Amino acid sequence: MSDEKKSSVVLVEEQSFVPNHIAIIMDGNGRWAKEHSLPRMMGHQRGVKVVREVVKWCNENNILYLSLFAFSTENWGRPKSEVSHLMTLFLRSLKKEAKDLIEKGVKLRVIGNRSRLPKNLVEHICIVEEQTKNNNKLTLIICADYGGHWDIYNAAKQSIKVLQEKKLAVEDYSEEMFAQHLQASDIPPPDLLIRTGGEKRISNFYLWQLAYTELYFCDTYWPVFSQNDFNEILESYKKRVRRFGKLDSSK
Ligand code: FPP
Repeated sequence: MSDEKKSSVVLVEEQSFVPNHIAIIMDGNGRWAKEHSLPRMMGHQRGVKVVREVVKWCNENNILYLSLFAFSTENWGRPKSEVSHLMTLFLRSLKKEAKDLIEKGVKLRVIGNRSRLPKNLVEHICIVEEQTKNNNKLTLIICADYGGHWDIYNAAKQSIKVLQEKKLAVEDYSEEMFAQHLQASDIPPPDLLIRTGGEKRISNFYLWQLAYTELYFCDTYWPVFSQNDFNEILESYKKRVRRFGKLDSSK
């Protein structure tokens, strides 16, 4: 490339080979259970065991943020018994895993609409968030009653309120003013999104945050997602060239 051309374009900065932030849509619990003639909940229960493993693999690989899509705003439409079992599973896991999270230096953050979650679950979320708030290895972000539409709508409402309170004009409204009201506004956007279970869609997860995220769709059902799958995905991520709409600096 000529010097003249080089100076007229913005080149992509040196890219890190390890993702800072991994987001996961943990799909396939129900299908795994069905294939093993087990009730759906057994799939979710095995899924929790995989969550524990993935936290360990992320810590071992110095990944700083792990977001897990545990319950979407649409999941309320599932049978009552499944919803209730998922909430119980979440509460039980929090109680059981808190000590381990503290010891392993994991900071817990739960994002989503807490107003519809069971009261005792919200109480425990607050307790574990408080107990782990000074941890500085991995930040584990559990997305519970979370939806990308809800997040964006909520941020729009909150930011417009501020605009009105400060008596600012629409012209003063900036993208930053909006984005600082998103749920994970203090967390860098995911570098890598993994969806297990073979489906190839985003399903109303981090819609704003995924703008330049690398996507990886893997056929393995979540309850049998293995360290090999995880390592393979990290290897594949290393080969991705991230341009963020700019030009590749090596060309
Ligand atoms: C999608 O599989 C999975 C969920 C809706 C729930 C995910 C929850 C867990 C893994 C357990 C709870 C997590 C924590 C963090 C405690 P699906 O039921 O849609 O599977 P299917 O597509 O095969 O039916």
